[in-house]
Amino acid sequence: MIEAIVKLVCAYAVGNLMGGQIVGWLRGGIDLRQQGSGNVGATNALRTQGAAFALSVLLIDVLKGVVAARLVPLIPWPLPGAGHVPLESIQYLCGVGVALGHCYPVTLGFRGGKGVATLAGVFGALMTPALPWMLLVFALVVMLTGYVSAATLGATGTALLYVLIFKAQALAAPASVFTLAMAALVLFKHRDNVRRLLTGTEHRFEKARVLGR
Ligand code: G3P
Repeated sequence: MIEAIVKLVCAYAVGNLMGGQIVGWLRGGIDLRQQGSGNVGATNALRTQGAAFALSVLLIDVLKGVVAARLVPLIPWPLPGAGHVPLESIQYLCGVGVALGHCYPVTLGFRGGKGVATLAGVFGALMTPALPWMLLVFALVVMLTGYVSAATLGATGTALLYVLIFKAQALAAPASVFTLAMAALVLFKHRDNVRRLLTGTEHRFEKARVLGR
């Protein structure tokens, strides 16, 4: 049990490595929190700093999700009790840890990002078959509407649907519990986006729209 808690804290620490802050610092002190939507993620980076900056942010945030879900659980545990918690449970626990680290980083006064890229990394690492469907829905919604937030919520709904269809027999399994909890977190972190979508004031990427009005 202590092993699981320590690894959860390690994953939380990994989550504190914010791509937006790191790239902003490398680029001479750009602070995404002072620009655009105020979010430190790749979407706001693209909106305010351009593609190269945004891609770098995206890579770091996705990578830390993969590292936390795949590598942190494998850190050797030197004390008695190793193996008491199944590896799969520790992996998903680390997925929760890295998402919380990104969304609520102690290094930024607990005011972090929305967790999307980091969770994409975790899903890619632990629920690989679900990821292509999530990316497909994400890409379609962005292309059709230009709203990244709506695309994110669509991809989140796809993950829930995946769990309902393919994990229905084991809804208490780590993958199912993780997906439900992370969907709630993503929805909560996007509450302002939802409000703006409902009032027609959400930021939109015009160039991304290839169809429609
Ligand atoms: O993942 C974040 C995205 O869904 C919305 O970001 O900057 O438009 O609030 P932003």
